Amino acid sequence: MPLPRIEGYAIVSSDGMLANAQGVMPPELVFEADQNFFHGALEQADALVHGRHSHERYPPTGHKPRLIATRSITALEHDNENANAWLWNPSGASIEDACAALKIAGGTLGVIGGTDIFGLFLPLYDTFHLSHAPSVTLPGGRPVFPQVPALSADEVLKRSGLAVKKTRVLDPSANITLSTWEPENRTAR
Ligand SMILES: NC(=O)c1ccc[n+]([C@@H]2O[C@H](COP(=O)([O-])OP(=O)(O)OC[C@H]3O[C@@H](n4cnc5c(N)ncnc54)[C@H](OP(=O)(O)O)[C@@H]3O)[C@@H](O)[C@H]2O)c1
Repeated sequence: MPLPRIEGYAIVSSDGMLANAQGVMPPELVFEADQNFFHGALEQADALVHGRHSHERYPPTGHKPRLIATRSITALEHDNENANAWLWNPSGASIEDACAALKIAGGTLGVIGGTDIFGLFLPLYDTFHLSHAPSVTLPGGRPVFPQVPALSADEVLKRSGLAVKKTRVLDPSANITLSTWEPENRTAR
C-alpha cells in the first residue's frame, strides 16, 4: 500500500521552539493568521499523526483519523477512547503498517508534532510548512526537531534534503512568515 503524502506543520519561536520550558505552547506563539492557515490545512488532510501531547493546538479536527504516538503500547492498538484513532509505537510498527491500520491509502497524512514526531518524519516529508515568529523567544523550551538548538530548524530541514520553495508573510504586524519546504533532489513519491 503506498504511503500517503506526508506534510508537517509547525510554528517556531526565533530560537526554534514549539513550546515553552513547561512543554506548553504559550499564547505569545499563537497568531490568528497562522492558526487559520494551520486549521485550513488540517481540514484538507486525510489523517493526522501526533504525539500524545500534541492535539490540534486548539481543536476542531477530532473526527479525523489519526495515529497517536505513545510508548505505552508495543506496536499498534486501536484507541478505545477515540473510534477514529490508533495508538502507535514507531519502534514496534512501521508507518506503512500504521497507515494500513488507519485504512488510508494515498491522500495526505498531516504531521503535527511534537519534537520527536517531527524528527521521526524528517526523511519522509513531501512538504513541511514552517512558520517563524521572530519576535518570540522561548528559552529552555521544547524544540521543533530534536537537533535544535544545536542546529537551527531551517538547517535541520536543509540537511534532510528539503529546500524552501515559497515564503509568504502571514502577519505583517508581527512579521510572521510561512515557508514551504519540499524535497530538493529527492524524487517525489
Ligand atoms: N508550535 C507548534 O507548531 C507546535 C506543534 C506541535 C506541538 N506543539 C506544542 O508542543 C507541546 C508538546 O510537545 P511534546 O514534544 O512534549 O509532545 P508530543 O510529541 O505531542 O507528546 C509527547 C508524547 O508523545 C509520545 N511520543 C513522542 N515521541 C514518541 C516516539 N518516538 N515513540 C513513541 N511515543 C512517542 C510519548 O507519549 P507517552 O508518554 O504516552 O509514551 C510522549 O510522552 C504542546 O504544548 C503542543 O501544543 C506546538
